[in-house]
Amino acid sequence: MSGVPQSNPQKTFYLETFGCQMNVHDSEKVVGTLLQEGYLQVNTVEEADLVLYNTCSIRDKAEQKVFNRLSDYKKYKKQGKTFGVLGCVAQQEGEKIFERAPYVSLVAGSASYRNLPSMLRQLEAAQLENAQQEKVRLESAILEAGKSGSRKPEAESLVRITGLDDRETDKCFETEFTSRTNPHRGYITIIEGCDKFCAYCVVPYTRGKERSRTSASVLDEARQLVDLGYTEIQLLGQNVNSYRDPGGNKTFAELLMALGSVTGIRRVRFTTSHPRDFGRDIVEAIDAVPTLCDHVHLPVQSGSTRVLDAMQRLYTRDEYLERISWIQAARRDISLTSDLIVGFPGETERELEETLSLMDLVGYDSVFTFKYSPRPNTPALGLEDAIPDEEKARRLAVVNDKQKVIGVARNRRHIGQVLEVMVEAKNTARGQWVGRTSQIKVMNFTVPAGVELTTGSYVPVLVTGSFPNSLMGEMAISSGAKALD
Ligand code: 5AD
Ligand code: SF4
Repeated sequence: MSGVPQSNPQKTFYLETFGCQMNVHDSEKVVGTLLQEGYLQVNTVEEADLVLYNTCSIRDKAEQKVFNRLSDYKKYKKQGKTFGVLGCVAQQEGEKIFERAPYVSLVAGSASYRNLPSMLRQLEAAQLENAQQEKVRLESAILEAGKSGSRKPEAESLVRITGLDDRETDKCFETEFTSRTNPHRGYITIIEGCDKFCAYCVVPYTRGKERSRTSASVLDEARQLVDLGYTEIQLLGQNVNSYRDPGGNKTFAELLMALGSVTGIRRVRFTTSHPRDFGRDIVEAIDAVPTLCDHVHLPVQSGSTRVLDAMQRLYTRDEYLERISWIQAARRDISLTSDLIVGFPGETERELEETLSLMDLVGYDSVFTFKYSPRPNTPALGLEDAIPDEEKARRLAVVNDKQKVIGVARNRRHIGQVLEVMVEAKNTARGQWVGRTSQIKVMNFTVPAGVELTTGSYVPVLVTGSFPNSLMGEMAISSGAKALD
């Protein structure tokens, strides 16, 4: 029996997403594609005919979550549901997923999503054929069983479709049917895949080689977003600044400036930048075009040149700090955020100290910190001197404590400033509104009595307090909720 009432012939799907912003946006495209194919999105596995997990394998825990979900499959299989695993775990584990979860019918990596409609049709056709053969087989098995009085019908044969071989494709997954979940910030992928091959990272193996979209197509999508009412766009890619316009027209910095000049766009963000490819022209673009947000996410991973070399990051501590000096020399006050990995194999106490001293030198506004997690197929897997997990946890706590102190100091400098905030939500319980500054800082703020704001609007907020990860403030004018609109 299907998970949908028999009277409702519309196919339904449930999609759950794990991992990074790229996955979240890929899911928006998958949803758009499925809706176009006549599917209806539902909110629970129970209601769905087709259950999809868009997975992440960047660290062990992310992957484990997916396998926890897969362990429930058996229960639902009896209800006739179809299961699919998408994303990085799908690409990494491939057909091994069928062994671990035999009732999964579809396994596809992100480079194959372009082919989802045809994969789904193949799946449906195969299932239909399978069901017909099954019916015939069961009828004869029952007849046979009736004759012999004992033999049980065998388990049905399984339908399996894979999309795993497209990592060398030059094509991006562009779809005009993207179903966007964030009503105010529109995500646009400008480059997919990664050619950097950092020693610890699965991404080059799961997302395939780098391929960029033409600047014309990116600009077209930005204009479409404006027509839909979006004022903020965020460019996505594992390495946005490795962007190479296939039309040869624009550098990444030029693309940023062109996007920032599209009428109706008020904020342009981009993530993630790789230090190796980070040029001064990006800072110049931010200085020149006010709609480009004053924030750069520049993952350093480690403050030690020795560790950076072992990580195959392609820059030294000094080269990284040089890029930081360009950013800090900008006319605008550009916030800096980063990713840090502790406990990479062989990382010594002194090398950890170098990371701590780099954090002080840069003065990050915030950092994402991770314990090194050994990943299948990556070069770092073969390195000796693994750091025990308790030691990694200790180092993580040391780095996090350090950042708390730095974050408080960095946020304190905003007190007394009036910052433009894009309103994201109301926190009714606390009588506050929540939004983000151009520097991507979370701002919790109050408004004068009787003022109602609309989400997606921009308001000036006077900063009155700071915390390690957020700011507090009050709306800077007493009337006109949309003062900056
Ligand atoms: N272990 C720990 N952290 C990792 N990252 C990527 N791979 C690993 C790994 N194997 C982190 C990096 C990267 C961020 C997205 O995830 O810091 O910048
Ligand atoms: Fe992974 Fe390095 Fe590519 Fe980032 S640059 S996705 S860390 S391989």
